Amino acid sequence: MGIQSNTHSPMSQPPKMALDPMGKTVVMKPDLIIDCDPGHDDAMAICVGANRGHLIGVTTVAGNVSLEHTTNNALAVVQMLGIDIEVHSGAAGPLNGDDGRFASFVHGENGLIGASLPEVTRQVASTDAADYILSATIEHPGAWIVAIGPLTNIATALERHPALIDRISGISIMGGGTYGNISAAAEFNIHFDPEAAEIVFKSGARIIQCGLDVTHQLLVTDALVDATAQIGNGFGRFSNGLLAGYLENIRLLTGESLEAVLYDPCAVLAITDPEIFEFADRYVSVETRGEHTRGMTLVDQRSWMRGGPVKWAETIDAERATEIILSAITAAP
Ligand code: RIB
Ligand code: CA
Repeated sequence: MGIQSNTHSPMSQPPKMALDPMGKTVVMKPDLIIDCDPGHDDAMAICVGANRGHLIGVTTVAGNVSLEHTTNNALAVVQMLGIDIEVHSGAAGPLNGDDGRFASFVHGENGLIGASLPEVTRQVASTDAADYILSATIEHPGAWIVAIGPLTNIATALERHPALIDRISGISIMGGGTYGNISAAAEFNIHFDPEAAEIVFKSGARIIQCGLDVTHQLLVTDALVDATAQIGNGFGRFSNGLLAGYLENIRLLTGESLEAVLYDPCAVLAITDPEIFEFADRYVSVETRGEHTRGMTLVDQRSWMRGGPVKWAETIDAERATEIILSAITAAP
């Protein structure tokens, strides 16, 4: 009685088309709002989103490090990319009021160990990320929300206005998995705010989930670090320091056994370049009460329980993804 898993692109809606200045019909880049906690991989995701999508705004949340640092890092990345978009800060901790356990052991105290940051001259446009998400999606109906940190801001926006789900194309999440990293069961973003994750997964929004199962296929390799050193522009030098520092710190932490993972660009690429993925339709629930499993996403893999509402990313063409990331860095100032 096997039910065939549906492995297909989540972009079942035809992409929006437009005429370029020469009158040629071109595929419009999807509108993206990136909610993030930079974080090395977040910084790469913002660069890819700005290059492969139409990045309309960035919101920040505490996660890898404090909100102050994640916000400063997001402002620095947007400033270095030379893009004229707003950055709005959001939640400094999880919905339940606990002090979030940051991941500065992975990303360094400031969240971008190894990277040389410019003096940040950009300012946040507001401190209400959820309100910005609600207003920006009125101005840009059909936008995708790319959630690559704890889901606190997204959950807050959904609680304020549940009909948000009707005016966005969906939410592409880096989070969860069939196993954990911050615990045996839980991935960091979900574990940081499980209640927020439960609100998002139960919201009825169209969800693409890039969990650890797919993100662990996209790694920071010595070859990638070396390639960024050859690019020769400012963002290439920034990325080289950032990726070298991230990889060195992971190797120090794990005694050379693990590679650094490029988690967050997967959630951007799942929208801008879905053809490099394989997806399956799955039922996914968030554990908020388990003594050992709080923060786990339970991805139902039983053959007779397929066809669920979540577009679960199973595989990524890591070689092609790395090429896209390098081309995005090369296209930056
Ligand atoms: O577990 C990986 C996730 O946690 C990534 O988004 C990384 O940036 C951290 O936020
Ligand atoms: Ca992140």
